[in-house]
Amino acid sequence: MSTTRLPGDATAGETVARMIRVDHAGEYGAKRIYQGQLAVLGRGPKGDVLRHMKQQEQVHLDTFADLVARRRVRPTALLPLWHVAGFALGAATAALGERAAMACTVAIEEAIDEHYAGQTAALGEDEAGLRGTIEKFRAEELEHRDIGLAHGAEQAPGYRLLYTIIKSGCRVAIAVSERL
Ligand SMILES: [Fe+2]
Ligand SMILES: [Fe+2]
Repeated sequence: MSTTRLPGDATAGETVARMIRVDHAGEYGAKRIYQGQLAVLGRGPKGDVLRHMKQQEQVHLDTFADLVARRRVRPTALLPLWHVAGFALGAATAALGERAAMACTVAIEEAIDEHYAGQTAALGEDEAGLRGTIEKFRAEELEHRDIGLAHGAEQAPGYRLLYTIIKSGCRVAIAVSERL
């Protein structure tokens, strides 16, 4: 963690608690997005690929749920919102088509990649375990991004707009889940 601390800055412990809080929220939302997509596309040709990604999100979520419990971190108060909004985003993009669902994956996973990269850069040796966990998950989020691209995300109608809106929304969700 940084060694200089200005008045009003979070303490190192608070900073790590915020990280765990927002990552728990994000993995919860990610699982709900894939559940929403599976509700629409689960029986289709992309069902298995969506189930693979949802399964990895479940492992990510279980890991952060465990950290929330063991480190006594207050979970975000917004979990009920992410429960509904995540599923709705997944189902809505899936309803637009398989490629739009993949565009959603690319936008979300790129935002998460940037977010996790920032966290691993900020964590010091005293949090090497947490940093390793985040690095592993970050690699899997990039795998999800690549799956989205391989399955035609960029060919989705209105890809740029869809991508920009979803990525911006994801960044807002990250910012509020760190604090609330
Ligand atoms: Fe994840
Ligand atoms: Fe992911």
